[in-house]
Amino acid sequence: MRPEEGYLLGFTNIYMTYSLVDEKPGLSLEDIRLTYYGTRNKTTLEKAIDGSMKQYFANDADYKDVKDWVVDGASESGWNSDIKPIFDTTCSICHSVSTKLGGAVTEEYSDVENYLGQNSGKSWSRIVGVSHTHVLGITPFIFILV
Ligand code: HEC
Repeated sequence: MRPEEGYLLGFTNIYMTYSLVDEKPGLSLEDIRLTYYGTRNKTTLEKAIDGSMKQYFANDADYKDVKDWVVDGASESGWNSDIKPIFDTTCSICHSVSTKLGGAVTEEYSDVENYLGQNSGKSWSRIVGVSHTHVLGITPFIFILV
């Protein structure tokens, strides 16, 4: 693979991960601000379903059911009666205990409860963890390239 193809893939990945965070198409400063500073008037779960996770809902009705449930306070009884089945087919493929993409699990109410607090952006532990892997990963690449 040529270096410019790598750049292109890298930018496509950044674009696809962040461009919908502010619910508008296109990558903007607002997308980055909301990701790292957080959407302080929303829970992490609401931010996720309104942002890059929205595309995974099978239809608008499922999205609306989950959105209403979150806005109404995300009760455990609501989870058991209506919401868990939607999560089972829509989210938990990627967010089961074993797959755990992005470090998130959505199998049980107790898992989802972790995302019901105020959203304050990426946690320090995640930023440090990801930076650590990437900084160390750069060295082997330099040796492969030179
Ligand atoms: C195809 C795989 C996939 C599916 C399906 C999926 N997600 Fe995700 N999810 C990811 C990845 C990858 C990340 C980490 C990158 C990111 O934040 O965009 C993530 C991150 C998250 C986070 C953490 C966000 C944060 O800021 O810490 C939450 C919460 C989440 N997803 C909820 C959901 C919900 C709810 C659904 C179902 C509507 C869902 N996801 C469906 C792949 C998926």
